[in-house]
Amino acid sequence: MQHEELIRRDAAAVAGVEKLRFYPATMRSGSGAKLTDLDGREYIDLTATWTAAGLGYGHPRVAEAVRQALGGQPGSGLSIMHENAVLLAERLLELVPGSGDRRVYIGHAGSDACDVALRCARQATGKPRVVAFQHSYHGGFGLAQSVSGVLVEGGAEPDPGAVFVPYPNPFRPHAGTVEASVDDSLRLVEEALACGDVAIVAVEPILSDGGFVVPPEGFLSRLADLVQSTGTLLMVDEVKMGLARPGLMHAYDHEGVTPDIVCFGKSLGGGLPIGAAVGPAWVLDAPPASALLTMAGNSVCSAAALAVLDELVEHGYAARAARLGEHFMGRLRELQSGGGSQDGRSARYIGDVRGHGLCIGLELVKDRASNGIAPEFTRKVVYRMWQLGVTVFSVGANVLEITPPLVIEEEEIDRAVTVIDQAICDVADGLVSDEEVAPYSGW
Ligand SMILES: Cc1ncc(COP(=O)(O)O)c(C=O)c1O
Repeated sequence: MQHEELIRRDAAAVAGVEKLRFYPATMRSGSGAKLTDLDGREYIDLTATWTAAGLGYGHPRVAEAVRQALGGQPGSGLSIMHENAVLLAERLLELVPGSGDRRVYIGHAGSDACDVALRCARQATGKPRVVAFQHSYHGGFGLAQSVSGVLVEGGAEPDPGAVFVPYPNPFRPHAGTVEASVDDSLRLVEEALACGDVAIVAVEPILSDGGFVVPPEGFLSRLADLVQSTGTLLMVDEVKMGLARPGLMHAYDHEGVTPDIVCFGKSLGGGLPIGAAVGPAWVLDAPPASALLTMAGNSVCSAAALAVLDELVEHGYAARAARLGEHFMGRLRELQSGGGSQDGRSARYIGDVRGHGLCIGLELVKDRASNGIAPEFTRKVVYRMWQLGVTVFSVGANVLEITPPLVIEEEEIDRAVTVIDQAICDVADGLVSDEEVAPYSGW
């Protein structure tokens, strides 16, 4: 198919409810950290498809594991026991520190992993309320959706038991200063817990879809202390940021936290759909058969996930992400200070560079003097980057979410930084029109 034809047929055949588009990209294939479009043009990919392609596209080890597993499937779900699901559950129990008797829910995606964890927490504790954060995202349906701040703010029905607390943002502190914002958020959590009817507190270790906010140092550990000291369950949602990307195996490791429940998805499947929740047996074991998806835990997706986890650990991807992330953020901060740029003009629009490892947020602003948010400008920069050969998405109105496949090379990062600089200058020069970006509103 040609570019125009694919766009036309996609519009006529694929449901709009599942489209979140930033530009009319039409890709034919992917390899490593690169995508190739229908005309054979290559792109450096800074999205990893919202981190789902953590190990990049077409990773040979994952492809081989899938090929072997497809060859002779021992059933296609969990009603008949098979090795791969058990090996995966055991592997995740090893990778997620914790104590006591624990289990792993294996599902299809981050959404059902979070949904099941939250539902089970309610069921097991007999308590109705869930504390979550404003602008958070935990899933596209069910309880995961109705406690997702971003979706509720966008019009989704909130869960009647949900309490939304501000997530402290060091770049834009909601209570004046960073310290005051941390104290305020913790105070609000404490107040909610004091009622005695909270089943679980759900938190992203980096608020991703809500604007790529890296919380102030110490926030997560203080939150964990507070929540766990009351005997309330703490769920950390590592669906987007977890599994080596943050420079450590888990993003919460940056704060030495031991959550009660940890949710995974996206990169776990190496491009295939799978998610998981690791938590206490008393939460995830009962009632039996209350979270059924026919093909959950199937041997093919489980095999892919096992290959991903083995590859991440054996080849030290966390340390690699830490090193490359430092390099990437260093280059972006250089741009922000007017260096490493074609003419230093992009510096004016770079409000903040933040992240851990290869979880990087680049906040664009109207100008550095006001730090005013620049949604239109950001939309055009994302579009222009695609035109210049780099795919990236934006979150929270004006933040570029830079989460490339972990296999990206330093030289690809350097080329991407050159494109970011160029795209910002081109948009400032008016090279992208309102009409061009109008059909691609992103969020
Ligand atoms: C933090 C977080 N949790 C859960 C989810 C849901 O994952 P999925 O869309 O793969 O079901 C997402 C998706 O963006 C996410 O970012």
